Amino acid sequence: MFILLGKPLSLLLSFLSIYLNNTTTLAQPDFLYHICENAANYTANSRYQRNLNTTLSTLPTTNNGFGFYNLTTGQGNDTVNSIALCRGDINPDICQSCLNDSTVKLRQLCPNQKEAVGYYDNCLLQYSNQNILRNTRVKSYVFMANSQNSTNIDRFNGDLGPLLRKLRGDASAGGPLQKFATDNTSGPDFSTIYGLVQCTPDLSETQCSDCLEDIINRIALYFNGRVGGRILVPMCNFRYETYRFYNQSDRVTPQPPPPPPPQSPPVLPSSPPVSPPGMHCFFFIGYKLN
Ligand SMILES: *[C@@H]1O[C@H](CO)[C@@H](O)[C@H](O)[C@H]1NC(C)=O
Ligand SMILES: *[C@@H]1O[C@H](CO)[C@@H](O)[C@H](O)[C@H]1NC(C)=O
Ligand SMILES: *[C@@H]1O[C@H](CO)[C@@H](O)[C@H](O)[C@H]1NC(C)=O
Ligand SMILES: *[C@@H]1O[C@H](CO)[C@@H](O)[C@H](O)[C@H]1NC(C)=O
Ligand SMILES: *[C@@H]1O[C@H](CO)[C@@H](O)[C@H](O)[C@H]1NC(C)=O
Ligand SMILES: *[C@@H]1O[C@H](CO)[C@@H](O)[C@H](O)[C@H]1NC(C)=O
Ligand SMILES: *[C@@H]1O[C@H](CO)[C@@H](O)[C@H](O)[C@H]1NC(C)=O
Ligand SMILES: *[C@@H]1O[C@H](CO)[C@@H](O)[C@H](O)[C@H]1NC(C)=O
Repeated sequence: MFILLGKPLSLLLSFLSIYLNNTTTLAQPDFLYHICENAANYTANSRYQRNLNTTLSTLPTTNNGFGFYNLTTGQGNDTVNSIALCRGDINPDICQSCLNDSTVKLRQLCPNQKEAVGYYDNCLLQYSNQNILRNTRVKSYVFMANSQNSTNIDRFNGDLGPLLRKLRGDASAGGPLQKFATDNTSGPDFSTIYGLVQCTPDLSETQCSDCLEDIINRIALYFNGRVGGRILVPMCNFRYETYRFYNQSDRVTPQPPPPPPPQSPPVLPSSPPVSPPGMHCFFFIGYKLN
C-alpha cells in the first residue's frame, strides 16, 4: 500500500495530479494512477462515446487465456481501440474484478478524452482512438519509488541490475500469449531483492526487450538506491522490492534457454537515457505502510 506524495520533476514535468482516493480503501483493487490524454476529446452521446461504452463492456470477454484483453470497435474517426493487461501472477477472479472496476472508473476519471490509461496494482486498462497494439511510442511514464534508500547503494544496484536484466530476457522470450517474469536475488545486508517485469504480449520479443531496457535504465536517473520502485508505461513495467510482493505460485510459462548476458556493464548506464520530446513524467515517492 502506497500513499502518494507528488514531487515535480522540473525538467520534464508538464502537469501533475495526485490521487489519494482508493489508495487507502482496502475494499477496492488498489488504484495507482491514471492519465487522460487531452489531444482528442469526444462529446456526450457521440458515436465515439457509444463505441467506447460498447468496447469497454465487451473487452472483459476477450481474455487470451493469460490475462491479456484487446478489442477494437467502430470505424474511421470513431474507432475505439482498447487493451487490458492483468499482472501475470494474479488469479482470474481478481483479474476480472480489476477489469470491471477499471472500465467503469477510467471513464469517470477521463470523462471526455478519447485516449486514457489507468494503472492498478493488478491490471492496466488503455483505450485510444489511435492504434495501440505493437505501438511502442511512450507518451507518459509513471514512476513510483519506495521512500527508503539502501544502506549500500552500490551493492544494491549491482544486485538489482542483473536481476532485472535477467527478467527482461525471460519476459521478452515468453511468446505471443504472455510476457511476464518474476525472480529474486540476494542483496546487501542479508536482504533479498524481488523483481517482476511484464510486457503486453502483442509486442515482439525485441520490442518488449527494448521497452524494458528503457525503463530499467531510468532507475539510475530517477530513483537510484531506493529499496523499491516501479516504472509503468502502457506496454511494459517493472517493480522491485526487498519483500515478496508477487504470488510465488505464479502460472508457469515455458522458459526457453536464457539469452546471452548483455555485453554492456550490467548495472546501470553511465549516461542517463534521453527523454523523448513531449513526454510526460509523473513521479511519486511512496511510503510503505504495511
Ligand atoms: C479536451 O478536454 C480537456 C478538458 O476536459 C481540455 O483541457 C483539452 O484542452 C481538450 N482538448 C482539446 C483538443 O480540445
Ligand atoms: C456511455 O456510458 C456512460 C456511463 O455509463 C453514460 O453516461 C452515457 O450516456 C453512455 N453514452 C452512450 C452514447 O451510450
Ligand atoms: C476525422 O477527423 C479529422 C480531424 O478532426 C477531420 O478532418 C476528418 O474530416 C474526420 N473524418 C471523418 C470521416 O469524419
Ligand atoms: C496466488 O495463486 C493462488 C493459486 O493460483 C491463488 O489461490 C491466489 O488467489 C493467488 N493470489 C493472488 C493475489 O492472485
Ligand atoms: C464483472 O462484471 C461482469 C458483468 O457485469 C459480472 O458478470 C462479473 O461477475 C464481474 N466479475 C467480478 C469478479 O466482479
Ligand atoms: C533517500 O535518498 C534521497 C536522495 O538522496 C533523499 O532525498 C531521501 O530523503 C532519502 N530517503 C530517506 C528515507 O532517507
Ligand atoms: C527465490 O527464487 C527462487 C527461484 O529462482 C525460489 O526457488 C526461491 O524460493 C525464492 N526465494 C524466496 C525467498 O522467495
Ligand atoms: C486481438 O484481438 C484479435 C481479435 O480477437 C485477435 O485476433 C488478436 O490475436 C488479438 N491480439 C493479441 C495480441 O492478443
